[in-house]
Amino acid sequence: SVSSAFDFAPNLFPLSSTAQGYTALGAPSNPALDPTNALNGGSLEKNKSLTYLNGLSLVVGLIIGSGIFSSPSQVNKNAGSPGASLIVWVVAGVLAWTGAASYAELGGAIPLNGGAQVYLSKIFGEWAGFLFTWCAVVVLKPGSAAIIAIIFGEYLVRAIIGAEAVDASTWLNKGVALVGLVMVTLLNCVSTKLGTRSADVFMFLKFFALLGVTAIGIVVAVTGLSYKGHANEDWKTRGWFEDTNTNVSNWAVALYAGLWAFDGWDNVNYVTAEFKNPTRDLPRVIHTSLPLVILCYILANISYFLVLPTSVIESSNTVAVAFGSQVFGPVGSLILALFVSGSCFGALNATTFTSGRLVYAAGKEGYLPAMFGNIGLGKNHRAIRLHSINASPGKSRIPRKLVDWFADADAGFFFTPISAMLLNATLTAVYIVIGSFDTLVTFYGVAGYTFYFQTVLGLIILRVREPDLERPYKTWITTPIIFCCVSLFLLSRAVFAEPIQTLLVVAFMVVGLVIWFAWVGRRRNKSKERFRHADEGESVGWRFWKLWSR
Ligand code: ARG
Repeated sequence: SVSSAFDFAPNLFPLSSTAQGYTALGAPSNPALDPTNALNGGSLEKNKSLTYLNGLSLVVGLIIGSGIFSSPSQVNKNAGSPGASLIVWVVAGVLAWTGAASYAELGGAIPLNGGAQVYLSKIFGEWAGFLFTWCAVVVLKPGSAAIIAIIFGEYLVRAIIGAEAVDASTWLNKGVALVGLVMVTLLNCVSTKLGTRSADVFMFLKFFALLGVTAIGIVVAVTGLSYKGHANEDWKTRGWFEDTNTNVSNWAVALYAGLWAFDGWDNVNYVTAEFKNPTRDLPRVIHTSLPLVILCYILANISYFLVLPTSVIESSNTVAVAFGSQVFGPVGSLILALFVSGSCFGALNATTFTSGRLVYAAGKEGYLPAMFGNIGLGKNHRAIRLHSINASPGKSRIPRKLVDWFADADAGFFFTPISAMLLNATLTAVYIVIGSFDTLVTFYGVAGYTFYFQTVLGLIILRVREPDLERPYKTWITTPIIFCCVSLFLLSRAVFAEPIQTLLVVAFMVVGLVIWFAWVGRRRNKSKERFRHADEGESVGWRFWKLWSR
């Protein structure tokens, strides 16, 4: 039988009842909730619990993260003027919006969980799905984790030690970033619940931080009051488009930074199957959540501009701290720094959680060495199961409630894909050490948009190749065309703007293709039976892709 990878994440999406009723590695306690059943024609009725509002908060929560507190400097540096920066933010947002709309059509036409991996396999062949998985494991997941960790480090160092320390040594920031990474990795190795529960705790921080920035900005602009006695007057004397950069490549780099803040829009697809009324609600979710995020980001940026001189915005990745200190003084910067680093820690935790499962699924699938598809500390590791605690409740000094809260009663401590998580943590650490926010954002963007482009191009191909395919939701054909044109522009400019990052991405892809054609792909063709599910596009791992989020 298909051992469901999804079993390990009973509570990642507490909103959806698909996730309920599972026991780790075991059979679903309720057969009606078994996704395999549903695929075989069983009923998914009970799982369809998401409403429009649930979907909205889920998507908005997935997208808003570190970016709006860190990207503005890179956007401004490269766009040159506040007006141009705002244009970049709008373009990035609209690009994300057209992308999400296109993915929604694909999600309806190919109603399997798994997102790009599945669509690419279906449209271009399995090599494309493999290449995506490969790049997700070696570039996208650890790359995004490294970006978030770096921002976490910078904000925390600023909060605790002060601005001078951040500027004095990047190693201090990186050290804190690494400590954060080690902490979340440990957390996620110890237990599933420990990971997901802490995610919930940290989730709300970013909403407060973002709302705070916007509200404060408006108040300061209207009243002209701030800690330093006056609001920033820069924008009154300086034209909004003064000094706009005319170099196209710089605009591309600015766009990558903006796109980072909007990234995560593809996650919309991992919840399609859970909507009560997907045909009606999915488009509604996309066409409200993305404009909403765009609006929030524009307002936050205007707030930054009204409060801070552009030179300050451009000079650091921690614009929210400068903002806090300008408005409220040291206390303000401390509070904002704590909020943002908390939000980043939560995002890092969620990313680590899903990356572990992704790598695990790739190991199970035969895409990676089998050891990465192991659970616990090794093949023969017997997890320290909670049963032992439960069996002798009197002897345990840990309160039962606490134990239940932290760990799945059935999963037990260390009953997690540890080797997978270690691989991910190692790669992330390498990126933290060798990269910086600016370089990693472009690196991530080039790799990410290569696949977004290919996938949306696949939508157009599918329209031509299979015009009669049932498409519960159909975008205007202009949507994917706009997306493809803009992302092609972005990708082509990357070669000139950031040749090293681009080369690295290309190198990783070439290695991936070699691995596929020389080794993994061949082996899979030889053992069709073993990988039967993959050939049907319902690989052992696809359910994990649902967790590819945040
Ligand atoms: N937009 C998020 C941020 O601003 C980044 C999301 C990372 N993407 C992802 N699929 N995990 O931090």
